Order: sequence, then structure tokens, then C-alpha cells
Amino acid sequence: MKAIYLDNAATTPLDSRVLEAMLPWLGENYGNASSVHSRGRQAKVLLEDARDTIAGFIGSRSSEVYFTSGGTEANNFALKGIAFNFFGRKDHIITTKIEHSAVIDTLEYLKSRFALVVTYLGTDKYGMIDLSELRNSITSDTFLISVMHSNNELGVINYIAEISKITREKQVLLHTDSVQSIGKIHFNVNETGADTATLSAHKIFGPKGIGALFIRRDTPIDKFMHGGKQERERRGGTENIAAIAGFKKAIEILKDEMDSDIKKYTLLRKKLLNLLNDTFGDSVIINSVNENSAQDNCGYLPNIINISFNPQKVSVDPDTLLIKLDMAGIAVSSGSACASGSPQPSHVLKAIGYDDIAAKSSLRISFGRFNADSDVEVFVKALKDIIT
Ligand SMILES: Cc1ncc(COP(=O)(O)O)c(C=O)c1O
Repeated sequence: MKAIYLDNAATTPLDSRVLEAMLPWLGENYGNASSVHSRGRQAKVLLEDARDTIAGFIGSRSSEVYFTSGGTEANNFALKGIAFNFFGRKDHIITTKIEHSAVIDTLEYLKSRFALVVTYLGTDKYGMIDLSELRNSITSDTFLISVMHSNNELGVINYIAEISKITREKQVLLHTDSVQSIGKIHFNVNETGADTATLSAHKIFGPKGIGALFIRRDTPIDKFMHGGKQERERRGGTENIAAIAGFKKAIEILKDEMDSDIKKYTLLRKKLLNLLNDTFGDSVIINSVNENSAQDNCGYLPNIINISFNPQKVSVDPDTLLIKLDMAGIAVSSGSACASGSPQPSHVLKAIGYDDIAAKSSLRISFGRFNADSDVEVFVKALKDIIT
């Protein structure tokens, strides 16, 4: 039985070229980038090359890229670092109901511990926020708006460039969690206009435990991780050079292959939607935005499809479905990976208007570079066998 992995929004397999690029830094090149001797300098050169590579890819200056232990830390860095800087001066943050838990949990902590006021914007049925509601929510106490670039469960892309025009006009900072967007759509910090943006390597065929925060020059942000003088004194801790070498390679591969990756995701997506329609007709509900949603200006990632089954037509327990798919060698996800194992319905599906039962019964299928056409066929056939 061939294993079929359709859960690339949770994490991606390590590209073998990335592994190869990491190995020397796990072996003979073990220097600490802060050491002055040649081993240290060798690590430092890799560290700064990697920073240049990532900066080049997102259109920033190298000095605006800070390595972190992943997307979660980068989101914590941006939100806490900016909140600490404004502490005692301003106390209002605006965000959305569909953010990843790395944003929502951090903001809930800031709210309870530092009495910050957090406004959660609702969305339409696709997960898009209303720009006039956002504009009207800004008060003289607002210092930060955090809106994810694209959503990890639905794949919907928000209007970050439009939002940044509002935040600049109102002199409010904008953070965007762009973890899911990198490598799936064109992403450039200048076109996007956000002041801070989050990246994570394990969503782009790189290693886990490494990410980065883009911090636009002159953004008022406090140090988050106290310790040594690494990362221009903004994030203490010996750099994970092997992981950074992998992150660098993952980005280099994207530079060459992102267009063909996107083409592949688009074809797989089309094929899956057609097959689902042919096989299940109106028993299947497409929760994510798609070609048929007829929603102008509503962008979506090409690699994520979120579905559920119409409870009036198909009776299926989502946990059993996932387990049976797993037994058939197929990995997909229910809602977000960080919420799986939790009995809570997806907060994202609830935000777009689903009740608890519907919000608990979604499946997220997400494609990656190593998927083939046949993976989609096998998946839909297995789904049919299980359901019927
Ligand atoms: C949108 C989004 N933000 C943040 C994260 C967290 O990133 P990491 O796993 O690198 O901590 C994820 C991971 O699932 C994500 O999808």
C-alpha cells in the first residue's frame, strides 16, 4: 500500500535536497556562529547567506529578517514585542476570529495579563474580513492589527495590501501571519505592506523548528527572547545553523520551482473538485473558497481544500473517517493540525457560520510538491468506499 500524504498544510515532508544541504551542519560544521574562530565564522557566513536568501525571496532587506524557532515564536515575537513597546501608552489590538492559535492564544495572554483590549473581527462565509468594519474598529488606543495573510484551514487569502493602506493612514502597525502563503502564492513584503510577517520552514519542505520574522526597519518592537546578543540583539540564543541551512535551501528551491509547484497544486485541486462532484454530487460541501464560489476579489491558496458531508445525505463520524483513511494509508486532516485531538469544533468554521456539529465534521486536504494525480484518485475512491 502506497502511503498518500495530503496534509501538507500541517507540515511538509523534508525535500531530500534540503536534507543534503543540512547534513554538513549537523556533522563536521558544528561551529557556533558567535565564535570568532574559523568554525564559528563558517557558521556565521552560512547564517548571513541564509538571511540574504530569505530577504531576497520576500523582497526585504537582510537586516529585516530575524530567525526564530518557527512560526509560533515569530507570531509571539511580533505580538508581544510590539505590545510591550506600547505598554502604558496604548492598549487596543484588532485581529480576526480565524487566526491560528499562535496568534489567538498570544493575544488572549496579553489581554488577561496586561489588560489589553482585543477586538476580534468576524468574517463572511469565505473567511474574508470587512474592510470598513476594520477601519471603524480603529480607535485612538489602537496600536496593532494582526490579520493572517492566508488561512490554514480554508486557504482564503485576505486583503493585506488593502489593510496596510488603512493601517498606514491611521498610523497603526500591521502584523501578518504569512506561514501558509509562502511558496503557494507570490509574497512580497513591500507589496503586502505589513510591518511584521511570519514565516515557517516546515510548510515549505524545510525542517521543523525554524522560522523567521520579518520586521520592517524602524518598527517599534521590544526584544522578545532575552539572552545573548544574537540576531542583532533582538533574539537571544545560539542559532540553529543546520535548520537555517535547510530553510535557506528550501527557499532556493522555491525560487526555481514555486511556479511549477503552483501549477501542480492548481491541477490537483481542479481534479479533486471534479472528482468529488462526480462521486458525491451535492452530498459533499466545499467549505473553502473555490472557482465556483463566484466571489469576486476573494483569493485562495491553490493547495488547500476544505470539505464536509451534508449531514442530511451522509452520516459519517469525522474521527472514524480520518482513522479509516489512515488505515488505507491516506493522511488528511480535520480542521487545523493544532486543533486535532481536541474535542473542540474548528473555531475557523464556527467563525464562518457553521454550527458545532458541522464545524467538527470538516476534512482538510492539502497538496504538496510530491503529490501525484493518482493520489487524488486513490483518495476519492477510498472516501467513497468508506462512506458507502
Ligand atoms: C497559519 C499558521 N501560523 C502559524 C503556525 C505555526 O507555525 P510553527 O508550526 O512553525 O510553529 C502554523 C502551523 O500550523 C500555521 O498554519
